[in-house]
Amino acid sequence: MPSVISAPILAHREVAPRHFVLTLHAPPIAASAQPGQFVQVRGVDWVDPLLPRPFSVMRAHRDKGDIEILYRVVGKGTALMTRWQPGGNAQVFGPLGKPFQLFPYGARVLIGGGVGIPPLLMLAEQCGRRPEAMRAATVVLQGARTADQLLCVEDFQRTGVTLELATDDGSTGHHGLVTDLLKPHISRLQARYGTVEVFTCGPMAMMRAVAETCRDGGVGCQVCLEAPMPCGFGVCMGCVVKVRGAWEIGQGSRRIKGWTMERHYKRVCHDGPVFDANEVVWDE
Ligand SMILES: Cc1cc2nc3c(=O)[nH]c(=O)nc-3n(C[C@H](O)[C@H](O)[C@H](O)COP(=O)(O)OP(=O)(O)OC[C@H]3O[C@@H](n4cnc5c(N)ncnc54)[C@H](O)[C@@H]3O)c2cc1C
Ligand code: FES
Repeated sequence: MPSVISAPILAHREVAPRHFVLTLHAPPIAASAQPGQFVQVRGVDWVDPLLPRPFSVMRAHRDKGDIEILYRVVGKGTALMTRWQPGGNAQVFGPLGKPFQLFPYGARVLIGGGVGIPPLLMLAEQCGRRPEAMRAATVVLQGARTADQLLCVEDFQRTGVTLELATDDGSTGHHGLVTDLLKPHISRLQARYGTVEVFTCGPMAMMRAVAETCRDGGVGCQVCLEAPMPCGFGVCMGCVVKVRGAWEIGQGSRRIKGWTMERHYKRVCHDGPVFDANEVVWDE
C-alpha cells in the first residue's frame, strides 16, 4: 500500500555532472519498494511546479528505513530539488507501479542507459544477494555517450554480477551502442542456461531496439517505461501508452503468452511502469 510521507532528507550529493543522489528517510516505502517501482517527489512548499515528479527507487534500505533516488536535472522541478539540503524534508508518495518480475531460473541481462540505470541497479543488487548461481547468470550492460556520463559503475561492480560498458565515443568499454552487446550475450547465455530474460530501462530508442532484438531472438523482455505523470496513481489518464491485446495460459516457466491485433491504452503509472516489451506498440 503506497504511503504519503514528509520524508527527512538525510543526504544529497552530485554523482556525475547534473546527476544527484538523494537519500530520504521513508520507512514504509523502504519496507516494500521493489526494483522498477517509483516514488512521486515534491517540495513541501512547491507552488510552481505544483505537481510531484516521478523517480525510480534506486535503493531501499529496509533496516534503516531509507530510500535513494538518482535524478538528472532537466527542468524546473529537478532544478529546485538541487537546492534541497540534509535536515530539510521532501514530500514522497510511494512505492508506486508494478515492479520487474525476477524469475529464479535461467539467465538475465539488464541493459540500460541514462536515468534508466537506477531501477537496474536495484535489480542487480537483488541478483547479487541471491545464490552464486543467480549472480553468475546475470549480466549488466550500460551505455552512455561518454565515460563521464556512465552512472553507478562501482556500485554495479560491487554486486558481483558481470558488467560491460559501452560509450558512443569509445572513451570506455565498447565503442558504439550498448545494444551492439546484447545479441552476443543472449546467444552465449541461451547456450549455457537455456532461458534468458532481458530487463531494460533508458531512452525510448534504446528500449525499442532491445525489444526488437529480444522479439527476434525469442527472448522475454521487460521494459520500464517513462511517461509524464500528473497523478501517479491511475486516475488522470495522463500517462497512457498504446498496447496490444494479450492472452496467457500456464504459470512460471510453463507460461505461454500471445498477442492479438486489438489495440488499447494502459496507464504507465498503474499498469506499469514495467511492461512486457511485446505488449507495447512501439511503431504507431
Ligand atoms: C516511472 C518513472 C521513473 C522515472 N525515474 C527517473 C529517475 O530515476 N531519474 C530521473 O532523473 N528521472 C526519472 N524519471 C523522469 C523524471 O520524472 C523527469 O525527468 C522529471 O519529472 C522532470 O521534471 P522537471 O520538473 O525537472 O522537468 P520539467 O520542467 O517537467 O520538464 C523540462 C523539460 O525537460 C523535458 N523532460 C522531462 N523529463 C525528461 C527526461 N526524463 N529526460 C529528458 N528530458 C525530459 C520536458 O519535456 C521539458 O522539455 C522517471 C519518470 C518516470 C515516469
Ligand atoms: S499519472 Fe495519472 S493516470 Fe497515470
